[in-house]
Formats: sequence, structure tokens, C-alpha cells
Amino acid sequence: MNKQPAFDEILDDVRSSDLKGRDLRQFAMDRLDHLPTYDWSGIYVLKGEMLHLDAYVGEATDHTEIPVGRGVCGTAVATGENQVVPDVRRLENYLACSLKTRSEIVTLIRRDGAILGQIDIDSHEVEAFDRQDEAFLDALGVILAERWEE
Ligand code: SME
Repeated sequence: MNKQPAFDEILDDVRSSDLKGRDLRQFAMDRLDHLPTYDWSGIYVLKGEMLHLDAYVGEATDHTEIPVGRGVCGTAVATGENQVVPDVRRLENYLACSLKTRSEIVTLIRRDGAILGQIDIDSHEVEAFDRQDEAFLDALGVILAERWEE
């Protein structure tokens, strides 16, 4: 399935909205929720050594605060690299948000090189995310960073 048209439509909608800050982040997460395999979509904001849950769509999670280095989210910040996890059941440093989750992607949001936060998506399917999803979420992160307010 070609996911690009749906990705491009979301990027256009987010770019052309006049929202900013958390309102823009919530708008973007609401749009992601309509994509097949995107079963939980959220933003974590980095403050010091802690990630704080910000806008999200999906089941409520216990992981509203995640220290740098913990889980997939904390690993992304600690290593400075996006994380694409094909099957979370094979991972030891993993914080379960939902028992149904099988794969996960985390992309970092940066401004002037500094990490502002991250986009975190969970899927109930294994191997739901690939390079195309990563490039899409990176592009979305650039728009969110341009209009970042905490
Ligand atoms: N699975 C993440 C925790 C966040 S929940 O998925 C919403 C992790 O391992 O960091």
C-alpha cells in the first residue's frame, strides 16, 4: 500500500493550519490517529532529563513521565537517534503502554540541534513502521518545531 498520499495530506493540513504550540501538536496527533496501524499517537516533551507526555490520542498510559534512557522513548533521547522497533516483545528496555502493542516508532523533534521532544507511535501490528513512516514523522516534527511552545 502506498502510504505517501495520506502522509502528504496530513503534512499539508498541519502546515496550513494556523495553530501553534500544544494545540498544533494535538491537531497533528488527531490526524495521525486516522492512519491504518497508528493505534496510539503521542508527543513527549523533553524537560531536563525527563520526558513529559503532551498531546496524544489513544488509551491513557501510565507512562506520563519517562526518564532519559528508559524504554524506547528514553533511548531515543539518550542516543540522539530515532527508534524503529519491529517487535516490542523482543526488547528488554521497553515500557508497555498497552499489552496489544507490537511495534513502535519514536522520532526526535529538534530545533537548532537541541531535542525539544519526540513523536511516539504504537501499533498493534508487528513491523508496522518503516523508513517511509520515519521520513514522514521527521517532516511532521520539523513543522511542530517551527511553531513550538510548551
Ligand atoms: N513504549 C514506550 C513508552 C511509551 S508508551 O508506548 C505510550 C517506551 O518503551 O518508551
